[in-house]
Amino acid sequence: MILIFLCSILFFSGCRETSSNLATLNATALDRHIVGLPSDYIPQNSKDLDRKFVPTNRNSIRKLGWSIFQDVTQAKVIRDKSGQIIGEIPLFLTWYDRQDLLRLSEKLFTDLKGHPAEEINSESYVTNRVMENFQWNVDNWKLNHGTPGELTLSNRIKFFQKGHTQFANAGSLSRTLWSPSLVKDLLVSFKKQADCGRSLSLESGATKSKQAEFTNINSPEFPKRPPCFQSEFKSNAVAVKALWRLSASQGHQVFDTSPESINDMIQFNHATWRPKSDLAVPSDQNIIRQVTQNGKTYDLLALHIMTKELSNWAWVTLWWSPDADAESDFGSDRPKSIDKRWKNYKMCSVVHFEDQQTNANSWCSNPYLETASGLGDTNCIGCHQFAGHVDNMASLQSRELETKKIKMTPVFPTDYLWSVSGAPEAIALYFHDAVEYFNL
Ligand code: HEC
Repeated sequence: MILIFLCSILFFSGCRETSSNLATLNATALDRHIVGLPSDYIPQNSKDLDRKFVPTNRNSIRKLGWSIFQDVTQAKVIRDKSGQIIGEIPLFLTWYDRQDLLRLSEKLFTDLKGHPAEEINSESYVTNRVMENFQWNVDNWKLNHGTPGELTLSNRIKFFQKGHTQFANAGSLSRTLWSPSLVKDLLVSFKKQADCGRSLSLESGATKSKQAEFTNINSPEFPKRPPCFQSEFKSNAVAVKALWRLSASQGHQVFDTSPESINDMIQFNHATWRPKSDLAVPSDQNIIRQVTQNGKTYDLLALHIMTKELSNWAWVTLWWSPDADAESDFGSDRPKSIDKRWKNYKMCSVVHFEDQQTNANSWCSNPYLETASGLGDTNCIGCHQFAGHVDNMASLQSRELETKKIKMTPVFPTDYLWSVSGAPEAIALYFHDAVEYFNL
């Protein structure tokens, strides 16, 4: 039942997983204790605070894509209390998932409950509480975990160490993860999102006047403050969406991503990725893997990344390829500096609605994630522009596929993030209920 519900929400991302291989295992409070405080991403051009530099030609957009790939997947060492190394995990696996966000939100709301309105509405007061709570979230595992004790902790550390040769386990197979900077801003803007949540929860009964008017917008301007937040996200904000699929002895579907094959695919009105006829079997050496508590192995087939280092975000996606063609097409320009453990992932990236060289729509699509009909010919940014609009899902369903690539709106209520307005996370809807429950 839950799966059917998720699938109806996720139909755009192609919810074709079956319940046995749909991986959404969240990290627990104990896992957060072991992983510790996550580190923020450092934008490629961290001095460019105005985000004025936006690459235009395809090579420089790909170069930016590889740099983002490299930094978001860089190995982070995790240690136990005595400083002993437990193992290495990729940076993005240290970031916050929905369980973290729920723990942090509930703590914040409990802290604020009963406080005077000046404090609840003060950005600096709430920011301070949020910053303190990040450390609380690392330390509170005994309270949340039920069976406290060093033995539980040392057993879980052993489980982390049982990871595959590539990396330690991280305890999280969450689909969506957010960097600390992004989570801080989500929490600080909880009231604004609660208001957004109020109108979003009216979605099904939305009156005509509530519906956003979409037209083809040529102007690059857009309001600096997305209506659901205090301000735009900072340039170090990052969100990722991971696809972990149960490792099967017969292997995984693979796709031909050569330019010829993609050109052939997008000739059709409903360009849809077509798998090759043979499956490919990965090994511990050529795919990123995690094991679950009950001994199942999950393979990382795809990773979507969006970083706010550009006003309209930089969009990057990676997908797994077997050894035979990992170096071809979208893997042929992989820089030597990319960690060898990621040598079997190909990459595409987009930073504009249009390809500046051809003036046609830009293109970037992941064969493992954009699996639904027509999504082989999309460009990330075009679909994400609709995130947070009152009639978002309904209008997307009825909209011609072309409009999913063209800039259609000057307003970005949730700054391109789907997980605020909809998706399984639906943060704004949760904040909306929580503000009433905690009487804030
Ligand atoms: C047709 C619409 C569509 C396209 C195309 C699309 N996305 Fe998404 N994306 C979604 C939806 C809906 C969600 C939330 C549901 C989910 O997790 O699947 C999402 C979630 C995400 C998330 C998690 C953060 C968030 O927004 O909640 C990231 C990161 C992301 N997408 C990046 C990308 C990238 C990179 C591409 C292009 C390679 C892309 N998306 C293409 C619709 C789309």
